[in-house]
This record gives sequence, C-alpha cells and structure tokens, in this order.
Amino acid sequence: MKIMVVGGGGREHAIIKSLKKSPKVSKIYALPGNGGIAADAECVDIGAKDIDKIVEFAVGNGIEFAVVAPDDPLVLGAVDALNEKGISCFGPKANAAIIEGSKVFSKNLMKKYNIPTAEYEVFNDMDAALKYLETAPIPTVIKADGLALGKGVIIAETREDAIDAVKSMMEDKIFGDSGNNIVIEEFLTGPEVSVLSFTDGNVVVPLVSSMDHKRALDGDKGLNTGGMGTIAPNPYYTKEIADECMEKIFVPTMEAMNKEGRTFKGCLYFGLMLTPKGPKVIEYNCRFGDPETQVVLPLLESDLFEIMQHVEAGTLKDAEVKFSKSAACCVVVASNGYPGKYETGFEIMLPENSDGIFVAGAKIKDGKLVTSGGRVLGVTEVGACLNCAINAAYKTVESVKFDNAFYRKDIGQKALAALK
Ligand code: AMP
Ligand code: GLY
Repeated sequence: MKIMVVGGGGREHAIIKSLKKSPKVSKIYALPGNGGIAADAECVDIGAKDIDKIVEFAVGNGIEFAVVAPDDPLVLGAVDALNEKGISCFGPKANAAIIEGSKVFSKNLMKKYNIPTAEYEVFNDMDAALKYLETAPIPTVIKADGLALGKGVIIAETREDAIDAVKSMMEDKIFGDSGNNIVIEEFLTGPEVSVLSFTDGNVVVPLVSSMDHKRALDGDKGLNTGGMGTIAPNPYYTKEIADECMEKIFVPTMEAMNKEGRTFKGCLYFGLMLTPKGPKVIEYNCRFGDPETQVVLPLLESDLFEIMQHVEAGTLKDAEVKFSKSAACCVVVASNGYPGKYETGFEIMLPENSDGIFVAGAKIKDGKLVTSGGRVLGVTEVGACLNCAINAAYKTVESVKFDNAFYRKDIGQKALAALK
C-alpha cells in the first residue's frame, strides 16, 4: 500500500521506521518530513498544517492510507478532510482531537464523567482570574486553553508569578487566542507517567508506559522543553496502577467521548501523575507523544500498520498488540541554547548503523545533513534491562557528532532510582 505520514519530527521518523517494517506497506511519503526522514521515506514539501495541499497531494498521488501525527492538523480537521475524499486515516477527527485542542473541554469532560484530575476553575475574564488568585492555594498551575506548542502551562510558585502568568496569557496574549480562556488548577505532586494507547472507540489498548524528561538540564533544572529524553517502561507504573488507570481513567475517557458524540479513533495519550490520592490525569494528547514514541515503538513487536488499519476499521479487538519485555532509552541531542536561542547549519555525523536514530531538526544542504532545529535528533537503544538500554543509548550518543551539540547526561536516572 502507498501511504503518507503527516509531520516532520523525531516522532514521525519513529513512526515511519516502524511502518516500513510492515510487509503491507510499499511506499511512504512524509509531509513535510525532514533531512533524516528522507533516508526512510519520500519527503514532500507540504507543511503539516496546510490541509488543502495535504488533501490535494493525497488525492493526486493515489494515497491509500494516511497517518496524521501532529496535534495541529488533527485539531484543524485533516482527518475529516481526507476522509471526505475517501482516504482512510489513522488519527482522530477534529471533534475528538478537541480533547487536546481545548483544556477547558478536557477538564469539563473529566469533571462531568468523574475522571480523576486536578481541581480547577475556568476563566474568560482576566479580572475574575486575578481576583481568584488572591486566595488560591500556591503553588498553582495556569494553563492556556488552546494549543501552545506544548508551552501553555505555567507552574507558579508564588502569587506574583501566578498574576504575571495570567496577565501574560490574557493581556499580552503570549499564546495568541489560545489564552482567551484559561484554566487555573490545583498543583499536584507525584511521579509522572506517559501512557499512549490505541483506541477505536470500542476498546482501549495501552502501549508500554514511558517517562519523559521535560526540563532542559540535568536534575530536572532549567526551562521546560518539548522533551529531552524518555525511557520505557516506566518503573512507577506497576500492574496495580495500570489496572486502576484502565478502570478509572482509560475506559471512562473512551466512553465519555462516545457519549459526547465524539468517538476517538487513533492514539490517545494519557499524561498521568501518580499522586498520593491515586493516579490523576494531567493532560490528554490526541496523538503519539514526542519523544515517547521514540522509546515505545522500538519495543512494539507487532505490525504497526496492521494495528492502525484495525483502529480505523473499528476492529482493534482483533489486532495483535505485543511488546517486547526489554527496556528502551532515548536521549535527545539538541542545539546548545535550546529551548532559547541557538545556532543551526552544522553538519551532522551519524554512526554507520543508525536504526535507533530518529531525526527531528535537520535538513539536507548541499548533499549534507545539517542541523536546522532545537531538538536535532533522538538516539534510542533497546536493552535487556533499563540500565543496559541507558548505557547503550549514551554510547551511541558519543558517536553522533555536530558542533554545539547538547544533551542531558541523566536520562533514566530517576527511573533507575525508583527500581532500587
Ligand atoms: P503539559 O504541557 O500539560 O504536559 O504540562 C507540562 C508539565 O507541567 C507536566 O508534564 C507537569 O509536569 C506539569 N503540570 C501540569 N499540570 C500540573 C498540575 N496540575 N500539577 C503539577 N504539575 C503540573
Ligand atoms: N512528550 C509530551 C508530548 O508529546 O506532548
């Protein structure tokens, strides 16, 4: 089958490498892909948000199946538009992608259906929000309603910081219209777990759990980033907790979306916090996580493309979704300075075997692979134990070379400590 993958980051590279293994897939296009993805798929210079051009390309090139990976095109209705032209897709329609597209929607959904999450208030008026902050418990968490490149969450440690955060979103509009409505919520504590799942609206099948490392620097210091590394499985996520999440969070969320007339088909991502009062939802994403996908898919032993077809057809219960018992670690190698200012254009040297290298921010220039983004690539290795995977990943990282490369040295250490 001729298929296309919409998106152009490390996550999409991992999805494409996994899809390539399916005997059913004969040709993969990536829209837009990137300089590293070009080794595994034919890249087409169409942006992931350019829905009209995506549809035109799919129709014009006989695409039989589309995987829409990033949040923006999903929220903008890429799947709806492709379906209208008769093209099967993996990914939710816009009316279900809203579970990520609007925090107000997802918080109200959880409240209505008793799904455990942080206590919260919604505001569309800045004065009311500021008044509420006068007595709100501190620390507090301020979230812009809409998509904000993963940066729309501010944890305020003091009342002054909270006031500044509200003003920056509602008055200065640092996230544009995404800040027209905001959520102010209870600050929760506990280990975080990412659980990606496949769902077709009939059943929900969790994938192996993972742990992201969001801060830029070792010891969880520095600014929040798109993710500096991941490990899987997450040792905090025991069988008991998994069962509890299935019963109280995963199935209720799927059923809630069905009841709202917004059946979710695709990858539903649960960002969880294991609080002293039990697991609670921090956020939903309507897609595979980045860089969680870079550790989860290398552990998948089943045919990803077949699973995606089952999700689309509503027959997920018949799909084989099997994971290896191994562990995986992904270390993100970034441009020094990220998530702030950084330089690009440096040539990248990769080791001979680059199976586990997922390229995010690189392009081909004069026939060479050069850096073009903040997060340049992720290096994943699989090992028999978590420590083995971590050591292997860092060993491979040493053979990746480009000027101004930067990476955290402690990916997986928190997980190792939890195992002890
Ligand atoms: P998000 O962009 O929604 O993934 O949030 C970014 C990060 O903020 C999460 O991974 C958590 O570490 C943190 N966070 C979000 N909501 C809360 C909360 N209610 N309490 C504590 N930390 C939170
Ligand atoms: N790694 C978190 C996300 O994909 O949103």
